Amino acid sequence: MLTKKQIEIVKCVQRENPKILICSGAKRSGKTYVLTYIFLGHIARYRNKGLSFILGGATQASIRRNVLDDMENILGKELKLDKTNAITVFGNKIYCFDGANADSWKKVRGFTSAGAFLNEGTALHNDFIKEVISRCSYEGARVYIDTNPENPMHSVKVDYIDKDGQKLDSGQVNIRAFNFTLFDNTSLSKEYVESIIKATPSGMYTDRDIYGRWVTAEGIVYRDFTEDLYIKSIDTLNFTSFFAGVDWGYEHYGVITVFGETDNGDVVLVKEFASQHREIEYWANIGKTIKDTYGDIPFYCDTARPEHIQRFRREGLRARNADKSVLSGIEQVARRFKMKALKIYRPNGIKLRFSEEIQMYAWNEKTGEPIKQYDDCLDSVRYAIYTHYGDRKARVIKRSELDL
Ligand SMILES: Nc1ncnc2c1ncn2[C@@H]1O[C@H](COP(=O)(O)OP(=O)(O)O)[C@@H](O)[C@H]1O
Ligand SMILES: [Mg+2]
Repeated sequence: MLTKKQIEIVKCVQRENPKILICSGAKRSGKTYVLTYIFLGHIARYRNKGLSFILGGATQASIRRNVLDDMENILGKELKLDKTNAITVFGNKIYCFDGANADSWKKVRGFTSAGAFLNEGTALHNDFIKEVISRCSYEGARVYIDTNPENPMHSVKVDYIDKDGQKLDSGQVNIRAFNFTLFDNTSLSKEYVESIIKATPSGMYTDRDIYGRWVTAEGIVYRDFTEDLYIKSIDTLNFTSFFAGVDWGYEHYGVITVFGETDNGDVVLVKEFASQHREIEYWANIGKTIKDTYGDIPFYCDTARPEHIQRFRREGLRARNADKSVLSGIEQVARRFKMKALKIYRPNGIKLRFSEEIQMYAWNEKTGEPIKQYDDCLDSVRYAIYTHYGDRKARVIKRSELDL
């Protein structure tokens, strides 16, 4: 059963049948699901014609995860890719293309398609999207795009969404765009929706991920950080493991932050080392001191200085390359602040570089990334948390609250 919002899209296809149809908006709002359904309906109209259709996504893995699994559910049969990355549906072929890279468009060159479905438009290369649209030259071909919002200057927004309602000379609607919010997906339980909202950082992340708005990043980055996240003592906490983040610096601060995970899943910044004008000797010694104190823990390091990482390894430290994805990393840290699951140990009388930076660290509206200032300690925090946990959810329910 489709949601009310999804029925609105289906009705638009029945009435206007736009050549390019875009569903933009919140994560998990039902965009991909409805377009999968509509794409299949489109293919069914060409039953047993042996035509070619395009299914594009960032990677083959994301196509499987985002589209093919739901397509199997809707069709009620298993879909296996053949050697050419194609599946056969209603006597036609759907070719799957990964479109994230600058040269991805070359793969679809020369293709003639009767329709395309592009999953997660902003994750695709602009040239790939343009090429796919121009490949859809068969009579009656249609293009369906779903996308999460990003910067409002993004080409998906400017070139297509902002042209919502555009008509061809014949009167045929060329482009139609719809916006989805998380609340549009009524197939999700209330509790689930509530837990997503609680775990989504305030500001840009909430605007984009919950309301589906194309907003710029602006103001302070970590808005959900509050003073109550400082703790004065860690004596009563039960730490089960430790890890560290490293941001190399000389003119800027060099910073190593050490984190402990407690037995209820909270993470605490237990120690910060921040200094300017220090050579690698100094940091290697700090590394060894940390190992003596906390054990043979992983150090997630800025990859800008591979020779420093090598030096740490020669000293017998478990130095690893940090995952430096900025937006996802910040989201992960911010989510933990919002859920009060990331705390800062600050004993009385101690000044932390962290405290200085957390109040100053701000977005650059033009680049959509943070301003590269007051970011040294916070980069080390992001490297540690994001590389250690990836996109794993911060605990929603504390283990101590579960009836085990
Ligand atoms: N009408 C529906 N009926 C059942 N499940 C749905 C329906 N619409 C969406 N879903 C499910 O909700 C989840 C999110 O939908 P999806 O289309 O993937 O969202 P989006 O593409 O906006 O992130 C998926 O697990 C999907 O299978
Ligand atoms: Mg989707």
